[in-house]
Amino acid sequence: MLHKISVIGAGNVGATLVQRLAEAELSKHVAVVDILEGIPQGKALDILESSPIYGYDTRVVGSNTYDIISDSDIVVVTAGIARKPGMSRDDLLATNAKIVTDVCNNIKKFAPNALVIVVSNPLDVMCHVALQACGFPSNRVFGMAGVLDSARYKTFIAEALDVSVEDVQGFVLGGHGDTMVPLPRYTTVAGIPLSDFLDAATIDKIVDRARNGGAEIVGYLKTGSAFYAPSASVLEMIESIAKDKKKILPCAVYLTGQYGIKDLYVGVPVKLGKNGIEQVVELKLSEAELQELRKSANAVQELVDSLKALVPA
Ligand code: APR
Repeated sequence: MLHKISVIGAGNVGATLVQRLAEAELSKHVAVVDILEGIPQGKALDILESSPIYGYDTRVVGSNTYDIISDSDIVVVTAGIARKPGMSRDDLLATNAKIVTDVCNNIKKFAPNALVIVVSNPLDVMCHVALQACGFPSNRVFGMAGVLDSARYKTFIAEALDVSVEDVQGFVLGGHGDTMVPLPRYTTVAGIPLSDFLDAATIDKIVDRARNGGAEIVGYLKTGSAFYAPSASVLEMIESIAKDKKKILPCAVYLTGQYGIKDLYVGVPVKLGKNGIEQVVELKLSEAELQELRKSANAVQELVDSLKALVPA
């Protein structure tokens, strides 16, 4: 069991994650920090008071100061402004960059040995901001997007075929945005290629819905963005780290030449274990898939460049 997992941001994603972490008992301590007075304290206490009913012994605390995250094994960054209807993830850029910088300066100070999982959007760019502010090696700073995008993709496939979600294997690559790259060629249902079950037009529709999965939820909620599936996705990543399961999961990671992409955070499959990113898995992509991935990487690069223009380093 880990010693401590901390979550920065006690909003929808952060608080739901704290609840999931407490119930999963992956660490002895769970700490949650937010700038809003009373919110992290109140939510932490509420979750702690559920423990006799659920039977977990996780110690949950909340605070407006960062001292409580000291000695964390993992820190999850969910702080930021959530997307409102009509707002793209990119509109969030400058505001969330400032917030993530402030948060990561505190992680560097109070939890210098932690692995950092970034959730704040626009995700791939916020990973760059976090890497720069923390100054940690890149195997310790990565983002949650691919697990969520893949979960959406798999949900829609299971629904279309009326089969168990457990039978669906597949994942998406690329940036967390409209240019993400689902890979039907690597998607199977109980080991059988997806193309044996569905025609190309139906697969295209599913791929499209997965691409717009975040916006679909925002369209319903109006005042916020998705948080149940995002927090569940972070939990899967943390479980792989805490138990050193070495699951292969799509995460936003800093590429150093893999897939022909250099010095950029892009979603690709990685082996996730106690040391964070333990291996980047390089798939043999077709020319068309590679082009889509590069297009997605270019979209991330453009955002990184526009952030540099807004907030010069
Ligand atoms: N330090 C700590 N917490 C902060 C800071 C800061 N500098 N700035 C904002 N916060 C907190 C807010 O007070 C709020 O409680 O971050 C929390 C964000 O919570 P929500 O607004 O509920 O947003 P949420 O739905 O949880 O999404 C968080 O994850 O999926 C992404 O796009 C989403 O970037 C967003 C992030």
